[in-house]
Amino acid sequence: MSTTKTVQIGVIGVGSIGKVHAQNLARRVPNATLAAIADANRAAADSVASQTGVKQVYTDYKEMLRNKDIEAVVVATPTFLKLEVVKAAAEAGKHIFCEKPMALTLKECDEFIHTSERAGIKFQVGYQRRFDPSYMRLKQSLDAGQVGKMLLLRSNTRDPPQKVSGWADPKVSGGIFLDTSSHDYDVIRWLSGSEAQSVMADGMTTAYPELKQLGDVDTTMTIIRLANGALAHVDACRVSVYGYDVRAEVVGTEGAAFMDIGRGSDAHLLKKDWESNEFSYWYQQRFDEAYRGELEGFAAAVLSDSKPKVTARDGRGAVEIGLAARLSMEQRRAVSLPLA
Ligand SMILES: NC(=O)c1ccc[n+]([C@@H]2O[C@H](COP(=O)([O-])OP(=O)(O)OC[C@H]3O[C@@H](n4cnc5c(N)ncnc54)[C@H](O)[C@@H]3O)[C@@H](O)[C@H]2O)c1
Repeated sequence: MSTTKTVQIGVIGVGSIGKVHAQNLARRVPNATLAAIADANRAAADSVASQTGVKQVYTDYKEMLRNKDIEAVVVATPTFLKLEVVKAAAEAGKHIFCEKPMALTLKECDEFIHTSERAGIKFQVGYQRRFDPSYMRLKQSLDAGQVGKMLLLRSNTRDPPQKVSGWADPKVSGGIFLDTSSHDYDVIRWLSGSEAQSVMADGMTTAYPELKQLGDVDTTMTIIRLANGALAHVDACRVSVYGYDVRAEVVGTEGAAFMDIGRGSDAHLLKKDWESNEFSYWYQQRFDEAYRGELEGFAAAVLSDSKPKVTARDGRGAVEIGLAARLSMEQRRAVSLPLA
């Protein structure tokens, strides 16, 4: 029998992404064990329990937090509910892996930071691109100085069309700037090693009139001026008929480094319903390895008492850019950071 220590982790919220984390913890993360799951929806909990074989299944996450054997939790509830869950988990002394975006306001982000620091727990935010092999190679080239001084950065996320449902309400998810583009804002902060000084953004609704009624848009662009002198742009679109499209690029004084979609050609034509083994239709396939890697990284930080790779302050940084982008779009002006 192996005596290697693994972190006992419970997953709170086993919807789309919580299920991925539960499945990874059950089988694919060598330094962690799936100890329990909790979901307010009994049917969702039971379905993931049967897929993973986990024995401890709760509909009340607070009951799960009373279980002393659980050392850490993954928080994958809708964003507007995360603060109460995080506070309860920190008070129970559990280390926390929190899905992005960590909160809807900077005040809430600050509460996350103070709560986790006071409790002396590890807190990691689920910006998995930092654990994706292609993004990591890009980062290595930049850190090795291969593009010289950075001039331009670009990051985008384009989601395939989805039925507009609960996720789309900005009061629940933070809307497109927080729910989608915060991944890209994190990529820009991480790749550049620099903070945003000002943000300009615009957006429109092209395909989902329902979104307009909810107060959100489906197609956006954000321009960020960074403290290191570089400019970054981020775009997001919820109508990518050809599949899940994430890319990144950095142009510098000595060259450029980029992470494209597909392999082996420098021009692509992508169309609806095209099958391609080069290209993933959905985020769960595209970031399969990164989702596993971020949990392994979190468990390693717990076991070695070291700082997680994506901290609560990183989570706050991405939320701040997202809030500034929304303000910029609404008020049609550049917004300076830090936000008051
Ligand atoms: N990192 C990524 O790539 C990624 C991908 C998808 C979603 N997310 C983030 O993960 C979070 C969840 O998104 P999702 O798409 O999985 O949502 P979802 O609606 O599919 O799942 C949320 C789950 O939480 C459960 N839940 C709600 N209230 C609860 C409570 N009080 N206690 C326990 N469970 C409760 C729901 O029943 C549901 O099963 C969001 O913040 C989202 O932005 C991140």
